[in-house]
Amino acid sequence: MYDVLDSRSVLEVLRPVQDPELRKSLVELNMIRNVKIDGGKVSFTLVLTTPACPLREFIVEDCEKAVKKLPGVTEVSVDVTAETPQQKSLPDRSGVPGVKNILAVSSGKGGVGKSTVAVNVAVALAQTGAKVGLLDADIYGPNDPTMLGLADAEIVVRSTEKGEVLEPAFNHGVKLVSMGFLIDRDQPVIWRGPMLNGVIRQFLYQVEWGELDYLIVDMPPGTGDAQLTLTQSVPMSGAVIVTTPQTVALLDSRKGLRMFQQMNVPVLGIVENMSYFIPPDQPDKQYDIFGSGGGSKTAAELEVPLLGCIPLEISTRVGGDNGVPIVVADPDSASAKALKAIALAIAGRVSVVALT
Ligand SMILES: Nc1ncnc2c1ncn2[C@@H]1O[C@H](COP(=O)(O)OP(=O)(O)OP(=O)(O)O)[C@@H](O)[C@H]1O
Ligand SMILES: [Mg+2]
Repeated sequence: MYDVLDSRSVLEVLRPVQDPELRKSLVELNMIRNVKIDGGKVSFTLVLTTPACPLREFIVEDCEKAVKKLPGVTEVSVDVTAETPQQKSLPDRSGVPGVKNILAVSSGKGGVGKSTVAVNVAVALAQTGAKVGLLDADIYGPNDPTMLGLADAEIVVRSTEKGEVLEPAFNHGVKLVSMGFLIDRDQPVIWRGPMLNGVIRQFLYQVEWGELDYLIVDMPPGTGDAQLTLTQSVPMSGAVIVTTPQTVALLDSRKGLRMFQQMNVPVLGIVENMSYFIPPDQPDKQYDIFGSGGGSKTAAELEVPLLGCIPLEISTRVGGDNGVPIVVADPDSASAKALKAIALAIAGRVSVVALT
């Protein structure tokens, strides 16, 4: 069938190979580029849809196997890169220039671990090579500067022709903007709806974010002004809902989920935090303090994926307080592993939403 070894025959044998998440042909998705033949040596570039692709090795292996079937092939070399897809734009909402995907981390109830998840997922995505920003939309109680080790950072405000612009702070591979940089830490902040609206818009459009694959927005709890402003201002790639296994938290998260659905923001999935307790002196033990299985039940009921379950571990809280997120401080801990897997699952879902 293939008399000559050329780039066409290489693309033909690669055509049946699919991206396992997108369930489409790699060739049709334009993920195979730059095919070169040198004698029996075949090389090409595989352009994944996210640097955080969890199935990278499998896809490379499938490609190699397919190409090796061609007569005359002695060697296959695959160069892997990634181009994160740009989220779809909406007629009434323009995106942030340079920012490919805006994601919200939200919850109906306070204190369930949104900021912990947002910060660790942001750092975990950056660790895979993605360009990541974190927008702390908790205007009343900003925690992200502390959690990202930037409690004492000062950010630069510059006057330009376009008005004032903020330069984000940067640590652990993540750019951060937060109200925490702009207010006196000991002063309570009293905002009215329209002011809050203005601040969130400023954090989106008057920050030098540069090129970002993912801008993660850490939301305040509930379904209030911040959620509305965000979903009305920019097209969003999706929302991640954080919950704990308790019934009340789950009920609240259902409300949150409905709000995003009403605003046509895809809900990428649910993260169950504080799923079980691991005592530091008995790391093999697990206690279901808040009951179990709630996250997976809600996910099934609402027909959204369960992105992962994070245990309750003292080191996770300490990591937040000390500004060294658990994915950096103790990458082999159960929480860090869960958070890294959740980051990959989120990136995978973003690609699915953008490309299908
Ligand atoms: N898996 C976990 N293990 C241990 N401690 C955790 C875990 N998740 C969160 N925490 C701790 O619980 C507290 C609340 O978490 P966090 O600030 O992330 O919640 P939040 O949902 O962002 O809260 P808020 O609604 O106030 O913004 C923090 O002290 C955090 O360190
Ligand atoms: Mg928070």
